[in-house]
Amino acid sequence: MLNDLKNRFDFFIRTHTKFSRKNYQGEVENKESNYVFDILNQYIKPVPQESLKVLDIGSKNWAYVKGEYDFFRQFTPNLFLDGVEIDAYRLYSNLYSRYEAVMFYTKGLEGVNYYADDLLNMRDKYDYIIWLLPFVTPYPLQKWGLPKKLFMPEKLLEHAYSILKKEMLIVNQGEEEAEIQKSLLEQLNIPYKALGIISSKNLEFKNHRYGYIIKK
Ligand SMILES: C[S@@+](CC[C@H](N)C(=O)[O-])C[C@H]1O[C@@H](n2cnc3c(N)ncnc32)[C@H](O)[C@@H]1O
Repeated sequence: MLNDLKNRFDFFIRTHTKFSRKNYQGEVENKESNYVFDILNQYIKPVPQESLKVLDIGSKNWAYVKGEYDFFRQFTPNLFLDGVEIDAYRLYSNLYSRYEAVMFYTKGLEGVNYYADDLLNMRDKYDYIIWLLPFVTPYPLQKWGLPKKLFMPEKLLEHAYSILKKEMLIVNQGEEEAEIQKSLLEQLNIPYKALGIISSKNLEFKNHRYGYIIKK
C-alpha cells in the first residue's frame, strides 16, 4: 500500500519533469545487443521484404537496439523499428534518464524510433514484435518502481496480439513466469509455440529464460 503510493508519486514526478543530464555515453556494441541478435537469429526466420515494421515492447534504455536493428536489416533495406517504454524518464544514479541513454544507443540507426508511451497507445500494426521480460506477476513491477495500476498482463498481451501482423517473440524469466505466460496465452486463445529454455553463448543469466513464438 505505502510502496504503491511511493511508486505512484515517483512515477508521476519523473514522467512530468522528464529530467535528465544530457549526452549519455555508453557502448553500442554490448553484450545485451549481441545476446538479442543471437536469440533472434535462433528463433525468427523473416522472409526478405521491401520493408519491415518491428516493435520492441518495454524497451527500458534500449541498450540492445543494435542487436534488433542488425538482425532485421539483413532482411530488408527499409526497416522501421519502434520501441515503446512507459517509464522512459526513470533516472539512473548518475542522473541520466533511460530516454537520454536511448538517444545514445539509437543514434545513426535509420528508421528507429523510441516512444515514451504506454503500449496500449500504439496503434500501428507490426510485422514482428519482440517482447523481452514482460511483467506477468505484480511483485517485479512493484520492485521496478511502477504503480500497481499498470499491472495488466492480459490486457497488454491482447493489445500486442491485436497489432501483430506476422510473428511475436516473448521471452520470460524463470519457469514460474513462463508458466504464467503460457496461461495468459491460453486464456486469450492465442496460438503459440513454446520454445522451452532459450540461451545464448553471448550472455548468460542466473535464471533460465523461456521463449514463446506467436504467429498470425
Ligand atoms: C522487466 S523490464 C524489461 C526491459 C527490457 N525489455 C529488457 O529486456 O531489459 C519490463 C519493461 O516494460 C515496461 N513496461 C511495463 N508496462 C508497460 C506498458 N504498458 N507499455 C510500455 N512499457 C511497459 C517497464 O517500464 C519495463 O521497462
